[in-house]
Amino acid sequence: MLVSFVQLRPEFGNKPANIDKAISLMESKPAELYVLPELFNSGYVFTSAEELDNLAETAGDGVTFKIIRDFAQKHKCAVIYGFPEKAAEGNYNSSIFIDYHGKFRVYRKLHLFYEENLYFKPGNFQLETVDYNGAKLGMMICYDWIYPEVARILALKGAQIICHCVNLVMPYCQEAMKTRSIENRVFTITANRIGEEKRGEKGFTFTGQSQITDCAGNVLYRADVNKEEIFVADINIEDAKDKKVNNFNSLWDDRRTEYYKRLGE
Ligand code: ACM
Repeated sequence: MLVSFVQLRPEFGNKPANIDKAISLMESKPAELYVLPELFNSGYVFTSAEELDNLAETAGDGVTFKIIRDFAQKHKCAVIYGFPEKAAEGNYNSSIFIDYHGKFRVYRKLHLFYEENLYFKPGNFQLETVDYNGAKLGMMICYDWIYPEVARILALKGAQIICHCVNLVMPYCQEAMKTRSIENRVFTITANRIGEEKRGEKGFTFTGQSQITDCAGNVLYRADVNKEEIFVADINIEDAKDKKVNNFNSLWDDRRTEYYKRLGE
C-alpha cells in the first residue's frame, strides 16, 4: 500500500491557501493514503473562541471536506486531515478519514495540549479503527502520543497503521513513535507542520520531521525540520498482522491483563 505524509506550513486563518497547498503537494505524488497535519486548514494558535468558531467546520460538510472528498474521488485514494470540528455543543480538535467512496469517519482528540484546553472540548468518541483497501487504520492526534494506551487500544482493535496528525512543539514525539511501533507491531504515519506561528503575544515553532515507521520501529523516512514536503512509502500491511516475536513470545498472547487493571481506572 502506498501511504504518505504531507508536511505543511499552514498560514493562520487562510483556509483557501492551506487547502490549495495540500492539494498541490498531494497531486505531485500518487498514493493510496495521504495523512495531513493537525488543524492543517486553520492554523493552530487561536486567540479567542470566536476565531475558532469562525474557522470550524461541521464533519461531513464545509469547504475543506468537499474539496478533499472530491480529490479522493478523482484520485481513487483516501485522505486523513486534522481540522477544527464544529458541533452543537462546541468545537473539537478532530481528524477525519475520507475515502474515494465518500465514506468518512471522525476522531476527536482525547488529550488536549496546553491552551487547546481553553478553546476545544475534549474528545468524546471511542477509539475505533476504519477499514480501507484491506487495511485497518487508527487515528490519533498529536499529544495523544504521550498516552501509550491510545496506540495500544487501536492496535488491539486491529489497526495496522496509526495515522497521527500533529502540530508538534516538543522534541520527543518522533522518537517515541518508534516505540509505539515496536510495542504494537504497527506502522505509524506522523504528519507534522513546520514554521513559526505568532499571534500577538502567543506563538509556537513547530518541529517538522514528519515520519513513517515500520512495524519494527525503523524510520522509513523523516522529513526536514523546516521544509514543506510529501513522502510516499510502499508498505506491506501483512507485516502488521504478525504479532509473533519469537517461538516463545507473542505480543498479544503474553499480555498479563490481570495485572493491568489500574490502567482502566
Ligand atoms: C499538540 O498536541 N498539538 C502538541
